[in-house]
Amino acid sequence: MTERTFSIIKPDATRRNLTGKVNAVIEDAGLRIVAQRRIQMTEDQAKKFYEVHAERPFYGELVEFMTSAPVVVQVLEGENAVARYREVMGATNPKDAAPGTIRALYAENVGENSVHGSDSQENARLEIAQFFTDADIVG
Ligand code: PPS
Repeated sequence: MTERTFSIIKPDATRRNLTGKVNAVIEDAGLRIVAQRRIQMTEDQAKKFYEVHAERPFYGELVEFMTSAPVVVQVLEGENAVARYREVMGATNPKDAAPGTIRALYAENVGENSVHGSDSQENARLEIAQFFTDADIVG
């Protein structure tokens, strides 16, 4: 089933000029980048985006990291895009990520792990709506 997911190329990757390399892995996996924008996330945006983790000990560090350099927010489209992109990203901790995944290739550690991807279709819809309108998405 064709669906959409939300992706962020994180500051550790934009800082190392890896946007194109990450996008190549995404496209080689059969996902289409149907919306994309490079932004400087504000503290308010990062706090809201990671609200579900507000009680976790790394929340402050995560918000600080996500606002430390530009990010690239994206909408990806394809067959089972949510699950497919989670596969393509690899495990949260790059030490556990399968070879060839974005995190195995590029992530530095469990926080600075190069990419975010939605974990459900419902969250994909909510996350996309935080950064894009329907008119921004060209399938
Ligand atoms: S998951 O996929 O929700 O099970 O992963 P989880 O371990 O719960 O992590 C959620 C997000 O928090 C980030 N994270 C951290 N940031 C900084 N420091 C530490 N120690 C840390 N541990 C986890 C992790 O990269 C996840 O970010 P996103 O953007 O959701 O992938």
